[in-house]
Amino acid sequence: MNELSERPIGIFDSGAGGLTVVKAVTEELPRERIIYFGDTARVPYGIKSGDTIRRYALEDVHFLTRFEPKMIIVACNTASATALAYLAQHVEVPLVGVIEPGAVAAAGASRSGVIGVAATEATIESRAYDEALARLRPGVRVVSKACPLFVPMVEEGRVTGEVAELVAAEYLSGLSDLGADVLVLGCTHYPVLRAIVVSVVGPGLHVVDSAQETARAAARLLEQRGLARTAGEGSAAFYASDNPGRFRRLAGLFLGRLPCSVTLVEPEEFFSAAARHD
Ligand code: DGL
Repeated sequence: MNELSERPIGIFDSGAGGLTVVKAVTEELPRERIIYFGDTARVPYGIKSGDTIRRYALEDVHFLTRFEPKMIIVACNTASATALAYLAQHVEVPLVGVIEPGAVAAAGASRSGVIGVAATEATIESRAYDEALARLRPGVRVVSKACPLFVPMVEEGRVTGEVAELVAAEYLSGLSDLGADVLVLGCTHYPVLRAIVVSVVGPGLHVVDSAQETARAAARLLEQRGLARTAGEGSAAFYASDNPGRFRRLAGLFLGRLPCSVTLVEPEEFFSAAARHD
């Protein structure tokens, strides 16, 4: 075991949704130490401009770099779609986004060559999935669906029942008719809606959960670089930029358990972390 492998994995999201990635990483890499930051003061990112998302994402990364992580996972589709290349220009730590792993899985799974992508407005507007899928599978047709009501619905715990079904049907019921045989859940919150999505799109559509694919991609990268932690128990520490109590309650939904504690990051602490690196 080398010293670098003992370092934590930093994971961030605009809020609590990235905990779906933490859950998948914990299952895939049970020995790793995870530091999670949720920017709950500024969520949602999915309706913000590209410039604002890039600025926020860089501040999130700078906050995490104080823990000297061996890798940072951008566990937010919106931030990955809009800011990954920008972040890579500003930090040296290896970055893993959620778009590419989801796109690889979708490109490999589709027989028809028509792939549905459900995501936030900013992710759809960035065309990040369209570009990744076209590169991985030339000639592919991407049917994009911005699903802006999904995030608030999940945050209010409306993941089953009539309202959830109606909204999911409104967004996604036409996908099979358009020839799609794969649907990418291109937003951290959507895996929580998986059951309702499957009931709407039908069992014939293969659903790709980018959280699971991202955890596998992170595991491969650690393995390739000899950075995987091979002994000892894993752990996770949680930080949020606002309302840690609400974050903790929501965590149950995304993580399947409640974190023991969530530390509030004061804005001065957070912004000064970014300022020190500029
Ligand atoms: N985390 C965002 C994503 O995966 C969803 C929530 C938001 O809009 O900030 O796209």
